[in-house]
Amino acid sequence: MKGIILAGGANTRLYPLTTTTSKQLLPVYDRQMIFYPLNILIKAGIKNILIIVTPEHSGQFINLLGSMFDDFGVHIEFKVQKTPRGLADAFILGENFINEDNVTMILGDNVFEDDLAREIKSFQRGGLVFAKEVKDPERFGVVEFGDDGGVISIEEKPEKPKSNFCVTGIYTYNKEVIEIAKSLEPSERGEIEITDINKEYLRRGSLRVGKIKGAWLDAGTFDSLLEANKIVKEKHIYENMDPVINRAIEKFNGELKNIKK
Ligand code: G1P
Repeated sequence: MKGIILAGGANTRLYPLTTTTSKQLLPVYDRQMIFYPLNILIKAGIKNILIIVTPEHSGQFINLLGSMFDDFGVHIEFKVQKTPRGLADAFILGENFINEDNVTMILGDNVFEDDLAREIKSFQRGGLVFAKEVKDPERFGVVEFGDDGGVISIEEKPEKPKSNFCVTGIYTYNKEVIEIAKSLEPSERGEIEITDINKEYLRRGSLRVGKIKGAWLDAGTFDSLLEANKIVKEKHIYENMDPVINRAIEKFNGELKNIKK
């Protein structure tokens, strides 16, 4: 299983914060936002991770993560996305990186309380996504479940949502995702939509949707960024990260302090 973190985008909703750095490098409690999705991938046993970044902030990502995990068995590489084309573009940019493997893509601004490792590790075929019950489903991809728990439909930002379950920003697929992503036409907002990938797996009868119970946030607005900081502190998410993350950060901090001496 390969891992991709999508950390591109202009993030105009967070101006002026994102005029000087990338959204995914903004602090969430005691570390940069990107460590939260990185933790989910590392906990799921993923050792090869591609981070997709913007041209403006690529250097900052490399300064932080370029060699932080070298001694910890996690290989990180980077790819620059020149213009944001939609979430599905991650699989086109990542084609050579994914190669013949399965892949889990996670959005760089998503903070999950739940540990999704067991489900991701047992992934076998098709696609696997996770839904969360929310109050404002019209902001997201929305899943409609049948009485037997099966998935009936998925719609991107519907005006009249058929349920309160939204698709969160973590997606596990087999390598067919590359061809599916390449076949997509841009939506009305001019993006190739991850929801269209999920619809295609649903059509093929190979989409599984798990439900998550714990807190979940995409920290892309001032309020959700504040909320993410609070949740991470209150629920001790930063302490419960994979030991590899905390050890790598500690080593990195130690090295920086030595340079400053
Ligand atoms: C994107 C997806 C949407 C998903 C959401 C999760 O929305 O298009 O289906 O529910 O991420 O964060 P966007 O952030 O592009 O509005």
